[in-house]
Amino acid sequence: MDKIEVTGGHCLKGEVAISGAKNAALPILASALLTDGPCVMDNVPDLMDVRTTMDLLGHLGAKVSRDKTTVTVDASGVNEPEAPYELVRKMRASVLVLGPLTARLGRARVSLPGGCAIGARPIDLHLKGLEAMGAKVLLDKGYVNVIAQRLVGAEIYLDIPTVTGTENLMMAAALAKGTTVLRNAAREPEITALADTLNAMGAQVSGAGTPVIEIIGREKLHAANATIIPDRIEAATFMAAAAITNGDVLVRGAKSAHMGAVIEKMVEAGVVVDEVPEGLRVRGPATLQSVDVKTAPFPGFATDMQAQFMVMMCLASGRSTITETIFENRFIHVSELTRLGADISIVRNSAVIKGVASLKAAPVMASDLRASACLVLAGLVAQGSTLINRVYHIDRGYESIEKKLSGLGAQIRRIR
Ligand code: EPU
Repeated sequence: MDKIEVTGGHCLKGEVAISGAKNAALPILASALLTDGPCVMDNVPDLMDVRTTMDLLGHLGAKVSRDKTTVTVDASGVNEPEAPYELVRKMRASVLVLGPLTARLGRARVSLPGGCAIGARPIDLHLKGLEAMGAKVLLDKGYVNVIAQRLVGAEIYLDIPTVTGTENLMMAAALAKGTTVLRNAAREPEITALADTLNAMGAQVSGAGTPVIEIIGREKLHAANATIIPDRIEAATFMAAAAITNGDVLVRGAKSAHMGAVIEKMVEAGVVVDEVPEGLRVRGPATLQSVDVKTAPFPGFATDMQAQFMVMMCLASGRSTITETIFENRFIHVSELTRLGADISIVRNSAVIKGVASLKAAPVMASDLRASACLVLAGLVAQGSTLINRVYHIDRGYESIEKKLSGLGAQIRRIR
């Protein structure tokens, strides 16, 4: 298993190019299942989760190929309705094939994703939505089986604005008979990106980016091309790297419209963020100020940035509270940060952080994708060399992170 060693104390300077967003690429790749021609997707990051999705689409009968950042999916030969356990257990987002497979083949059999380190993460709302569209849902031997000759449009209220749930139901509704209205839908930029792709395929989706999305079902969709939006979480992670190292970094491609809450909190903490034509220029202050943060669905502060922002607060002057409202167990990084000398106590779903003057290197263990990024950030400022174990998590969501950080002057290397 690879490890990453980071030697702290280097101020990051220069520019870094942001890759395409993992969480936009995964549903857009799955949406090709709704069509029967070659869909060409550009700016697709080369990440483990993207590779797993490509494998899964190939298993289902699609022809899938990559040339640099372009992935082509031709789903004309798709005939296999089963997403097997071996692939789903590698990546929960495999569940994104459930909606499009049901719409395309009239049936889908997808291994039920288990819980993961950050929470139980049920998919009951995906299934309720499909049932409302007339599908029969049966659980058997760890698989969810969904059958519907033709889905029918329905009014669906989501108890929680689930991101992949909204995406699954949008894709299913695009080929349903009649109109589907999703209420309390997720509003993340990745939802809007998927809606744009579906519309390019001939679907009629309106309201994406608002809590009410209307989808008028079509008989057929055609192949279309898409360009994946920049990864707002990767961008924000590099902004945090500049912030903690008193650095000056141009985050090329970062879109402020996708990152409002994170930018505001960084500015409140004393970070200078300037919008420039190429992206965002970020300058870290000599001393960060403590600010309180509460995660929330978009446009709130992204849970996927909670762990990285915590590293900033570990070094800030004063006391801050970070409250996690999306996932019940997304504080696993706290005990690792404590090993590096951070002063954090957990009270229910809040972490109370007293800023310390410095962190000190120690071996640590990554537990999930964003926790890995948080530990890499901590390593950038810890005195000495921090060895991060189980970094395969980071390869699921950050393209060439050690190369990109080295390019900014960090001392970081992968140990194979
Ligand atoms: N939930 C339910 N029932 C459902 C669906 C969700 O109770 O049927 C709950 C979840 O357990 C959670 C909350 O609703 O407590 C929100 O979960 P959501 O469904 O929105 O999360 P997701 O769609 O599984 C996506 C991202 C995550 C990101 C979350 C929240 C993808 C592929 N994944 O997950 O990304 O944290 O939205 O923004 O888009 C990551 O990239 O590191 C990551 C975990």
